[in-house]
Parts: sequence; C-alpha cells; structure tokens
Amino acid sequence: MELLNKLVVTSLPLVPLPIVRRLASRYIAGETLDDAVRTVRALQAEGACATLDVLGEDVVAKEQAIAQRDESVRTLEAIAREKIDSHLSIKLTSLGLKVGPPGQGTTIDPAFCRENVHAILEAADRLGIFVRVDMEDSTCTTPTIELFRDLHREFPRTGLVLQAYLKRTEADVRSLPPATNYRIVKGIYRESPEIAFQGPEEIRASFLRLLRRMFERGSYVGIATHDDALVRGSLEIVKELGIPPDRYEFQMLLGVLPELRRRLIGEGHKLRVYVPFGAHWYGYSTRRFKENPTVAGYVFRALFHRG
Ligand code: FDA
Repeated sequence: MELLNKLVVTSLPLVPLPIVRRLASRYIAGETLDDAVRTVRALQAEGACATLDVLGEDVVAKEQAIAQRDESVRTLEAIAREKIDSHLSIKLTSLGLKVGPPGQGTTIDPAFCRENVHAILEAADRLGIFVRVDMEDSTCTTPTIELFRDLHREFPRTGLVLQAYLKRTEADVRSLPPATNYRIVKGIYRESPEIAFQGPEEIRASFLRLLRRMFERGSYVGIATHDDALVRGSLEIVKELGIPPDRYEFQMLLGVLPELRRRLIGEGHKLRVYVPFGAHWYGYSTRRFKENPTVAGYVFRALFHRG
C-alpha cells in the first residue's frame, strides 16, 4: 500500500485538476478570506484556536511578494475586525526571500523580504496579533533565523518554527534568545543525510530532545505533530518538568486527524489549528498528500466517484 501511495503521489500532475482540488479541500479553508474566517469560527466552536496562512510560496517576482504582503495585512485586519481567535503564519519565500528576473534563477534577497515582513509585523503589533515565521527548506534556514533574530528585537510578539530533522537545530536553540516562542515540527522538506536525520525514530528522538531544551530554557512551545508517540512523549516531558498550561500548546494541520484534535481539547490542552487559505493551494496540498498514508484510496475514490 505504501508503494501504491508513493506511485499515486508521483502521478498527481496527471490527475485532473478538479479532482486534486476536491481532495485538497479537506486541507484548505477555501480560496477567500471569508472562507478562512468561517473555518476559524467552526474550529472555535469545537474549542480550538487557529493560525491563518495565506497560501503562496516560492514567489520570485517582486510584485507577487508585495501582493502577498498586502494580503497578509488584510488577513490581520480581518482577524481583528471579526474578533476571531487566530494568529498569522507567514513564509519568507512568499514574501520575497528568493527573487529574480523571470527564467533567470533566483537570489536570496533578505533586505527586500525584511521590508515586507516588517510591514506585516508593524500591522500585527498595532492590532495585537501574534505572527509566526514558518520554516522552509534548508536553503532558507540561516536567512530565516537571521531575519527572525533581527525583527524579534523590535517585535517580541513574533515566533519561529524549528525542524527536528535538521542536525543544526540544537545549536540554533542554544543561540536564540530563551524568550523565543517556538513551534517545533518534524520537518517536511527532503534534506540530505549530511544535514538531516532520516529515520523516523531519530527524528522523534530529536523532536523530544529539542522540546525538553526549549522548556528548560524557559521558552513557550507549540508542539506541532499528529504523531501519537510524540504527543505522548511530549506530555511526559510536560509532566516531568512541571510545565504549566500557559507555556505550551498543541498544533495540528486543518484536515489531519480531527479525532486526535478533539481528544487533546477534551483533555484540556490548548490546541491551535493551522488554517491555510487562498488561490495558491496546489503546492501545499501536494505536500499534505505525500504525508497521508491513505492518499491512494482517496485519489481512486475521487476518480471513480460520480456526481
Ligand atoms: P507523521 O507524519 O508521522 O504523522 C502522524 C500520523 O498523522 C500519520 O500516521 C497519519 O495517520 C496522520 N497524518 C499525518 N499527515 C497526514 C495527512 N496529510 N493526511 C492525513 N493523515 C495524516 N513543517 C516544516 O518543515 N515547516 C513548517 O513551518 C511546518 N509547520 C507546521 C505547522 C503545523 C501546525 C504542523 C502540525 C506541521 C507543520 N509542519 C511544518 C509539517 C511537519 O514538519 C510534518 O511534516 C507534519 O506535521 C507531519 O509530521 P507528524 O509529526 O504529524 O508525523
């Protein structure tokens, strides 16, 4: 079945777009800000809170990055206006970290990206909304951490994502201020064995080791996983170190294991759902399909389901 899943995922570009869109709909709130607000309200009714993500990574034209910045600011304004319980998550490659003329490759442009992120953080600060910087592939790790380090001084209500599969993360935690608000994740991009742990057990062990370090340094941590072993391991660390409820939360992706989400909420833990929305849904959804152990079944059902 695993092989079949892999085959189906590699063949996704051949699957008709309306079918991919139908499959993607479980992971995406919709294309508009209204769809996003509606989804957050439904999650709040369940006892969860949210972080909104305006989809659109790997932007290479400056105008697109500026449009993405403006959409992020509009999203912050909607969070405040609609009084929904949500943060904002941003990706630096959608805000101009890598820009370049069409067809001529890209260069890292932290100064242009910094201007865009600064504008978003200024708006968030004015509106009292927390913003988290997502972590992308390893070509982005150093510029993302440097930009975060720089802007965090001016905007302390900003958090960062670190990836447990990267061997450097332990040193990054040591070098970042203890007051950093983290989201810890396994890491989703394909990285080489030189820089990243490859085996699931090594990655789990690293995740729990890093969580412990972050707590020991006094940081707030968003524990972002759907892996039951990591949920249990994290709760053991919380208990052992006597971490109070205002120092951590669980985080999950929209459309993934809602039963685990409800269980954690039922046990009294704070639970935040990552809610992506917007027109650029294809790349994000493809990553979710790759993680989904039953995607082949979904694709076949969607292909053969009529009406
Ligand atoms: P794992 O992949 O082992 O999943 C555990 C179980 O969950 C699976 O066995 C399956 O049952 C279920 N499951 C997982 N994914 C599924 C899916 N798509 N569909 C259906 N079932 C699924 N990564 C990154 O590199 N940078 C980032 O900024 C972020 N941000 C982020 C935010 C939040 C809130 C979360 C939860 C995750 C991220 N990630 C991320 C992704 C993260 O790195 C990782 O790839 C995924 O969370 C999957 O890893 P798990 O820990 O959930 O374990």
